[in-house]
Amino acid sequence: MTQDEAKLLSAQRAVDFVKDGMAVGLGTGSTATLFIRELGRRVAGGGLRIRAVATSDASDGLARQLGIPMTNFTETPVLDLNVDGADEVGPSLALIKGGGGAHLREKIVASAAKQFLVVADATKLVSQLGSFPLPVEVIPIARPLVERRLAALNLNPVLRPRPDGSPYLTDEHNVILDCHCGTIPDPSRTAAEIRAIVGVVEHGLFLNMATLALIAGDNGVTELRP
Ligand code: 5RP
Repeated sequence: MTQDEAKLLSAQRAVDFVKDGMAVGLGTGSTATLFIRELGRRVAGGGLRIRAVATSDASDGLARQLGIPMTNFTETPVLDLNVDGADEVGPSLALIKGGGGAHLREKIVASAAKQFLVVADATKLVSQLGSFPLPVEVIPIARPLVERRLAALNLNPVLRPRPDGSPYLTDEHNVILDCHCGTIPDPSRTAAEIRAIVGVVEHGLFLNMATLALIAGDNGVTELRP
């Protein structure tokens, strides 16, 4: 099975968790996009009435295009289910997210959901977080200060570029420092150290948030719980 086939399998399984009447968080990235497309098909088929909140402008645009009714946190402060991908899935379903630069809204949406379902292919499973660079979203004016603080923590920050070499900007017009940590032996500690830096908006460590992961590979879909 290819990685893309595994992503599709996980995304298709996740749609079975969406029930009529639910308020649903829509993630960002290639696996979440497959989920949104599948969800859109079921909504268009008339079998599923839901409302959704998206984690990025891209996912919001796709969902609207597919006819998925969208809501917001004023109307719907509690979501029944959030479905999103991950860059790494570690022990206890600790995650690294933000490869797509959307981890700020992804964390906000996840925090509003009663259940957070991770959709991923088996290559995302790790025994220790940190091989994938940890994204840190930063207010642009604070970037040199935050960069120095992250470097002092030996987190090896690198400014994320756009393809043309200019700094990548998030939906909230902030920059991202990708921290090439190598390993993160104590994710809670690293999360607290990064959060304490003034100018940091949000980091991509999602700890104690995911409630279930649907990991797809050659043996089908495995359900993992924290
Ligand atoms: C975006 C994310 C994505 O969920 C993560 O990058 C995984 O993406 P993909 O499903 O394309 O592998 O966190 O900010």
